[in-house]
Amino acid sequence: MIASSATKLRPAVARQLQARGAVSIRTASAWAQVPQGPPDAILGITEAFKADGHPEKINLGVGAYRDDQGKPYVLPSVKSAEQKVVQQNLDKEYAGITGVPNFTKAAALLAYGPDSAPLKEDRIAITQSISGTGALRIGGAFLQRFYPGAKTIYIPTPSWANHTAVFKDSGLKVEKYRYYDANSIGLDFDGMLADIKALPKGSIVLLHACAHNPTGVDPTQDQWRAISDAVKEGGHYPFFDMAYQGFASGDTDRDAFALRHFIKEGHELCLAQSFAKNMGLYGERVGAFSIVSASAEEKKRVDSQVKILVRPLYSNPPVHGARIASEILNDASLNKQWLGEVKGMADRIIQMRALLKENLEKLGSKHDWSHITSQIGMFAYTGLKADQMDKLAKEHSVYATKDGRISVAGITSGNVKRLAESIYKVTG
Ligand SMILES: Cc1ncc(COP(=O)(O)O)c(C=O)c1O
Repeated sequence: MIASSATKLRPAVARQLQARGAVSIRTASAWAQVPQGPPDAILGITEAFKADGHPEKINLGVGAYRDDQGKPYVLPSVKSAEQKVVQQNLDKEYAGITGVPNFTKAAALLAYGPDSAPLKEDRIAITQSISGTGALRIGGAFLQRFYPGAKTIYIPTPSWANHTAVFKDSGLKVEKYRYYDANSIGLDFDGMLADIKALPKGSIVLLHACAHNPTGVDPTQDQWRAISDAVKEGGHYPFFDMAYQGFASGDTDRDAFALRHFIKEGHELCLAQSFAKNMGLYGERVGAFSIVSASAEEKKRVDSQVKILVRPLYSNPPVHGARIASEILNDASLNKQWLGEVKGMADRIIQMRALLKENLEKLGSKHDWSHITSQIGMFAYTGLKADQMDKLAKEHSVYATKDGRISVAGITSGNVKRLAESIYKVTG
């Protein structure tokens, strides 16, 4: 209870002061006007899943990798790297504003590749970030402050649900371009290209580098070439979000194709990287944000402004996760081991896609499920409608988002048959 200051005064004095407006009696909390917000869609699913008593319930909501026993997976390379970090007995001093340099250097190399001209010419400004979300947020704030054109960012329809919130909170306007075609359960390539071409000159365009979330639908390499041409023609500014490098195909170079193609084509661009998925460092919050500049001198100026932007946000990033990632990226044998483990995760997901499709076909489903295997990455857009997803949850204890997205990482050889039966029953 908040006691009003007037109650501590003699009643007559308090009345006099109140009458003169000198003392106000606060009867309600300062936050009485705060409205109840809706729960986070994904976390809501986890709550419903936890409350369900079904012994074979399945959670395909959350975008985190699970092993074939359905358990969270700490990569062996991460465990080894962590031990090495601990053995070094390092201090816990602050990192610089832009983070652990050995990490950011290696992160840039992983994304842009050893042959990248801007890397060789030292014109990429890079900062460590609070995973991919933090990278997007720094990027949004930087563009809001310095982008010379309209402060509107165009994102695909649909996109990762947090994109809109991150960019709006950064002060950008968020608009959409066509991406997913519900009829073909594939890419609306013509729509995407037409929309990009029709954008006001110099627009900011957000592109998922690989393993598009939520659809799992990626452009082919030829389509990426055409997208690059369209972006160039419009004088647009590409902002790449690469949250799944290595996770899509199992090959970090292949998954970086779009980004590296744009670089070869001479685009100035920026990039958000996450190591949540490909290193399983979800809770360690390891990421990077980089801006390709026109010259080493321009890079220095950009870098100085990134620092000015980060300093009042969180001062400097945490060191532990970045040190782990740095060990993995910089130690040749750990790096090789890690690349094998990334491929292992990607392959398990690809295998689960094939098993789900196969099981649905075995059951005699008349639907075409080829999109399950043609899509890529952690998520599959099943094409199921909201009422079918509701039925999946209520009647079969299978939980995923209403838009029909399932996290393939939650499928195991132990639950795929029951999952296929459940999907078969709700799709007829
Ligand atoms: C497309 C996309 N971008 C960015 C992120 C950021 O994730 P994090 O902040 O955990 O690195 C995610 C995570 O699901 C994502 O799917």
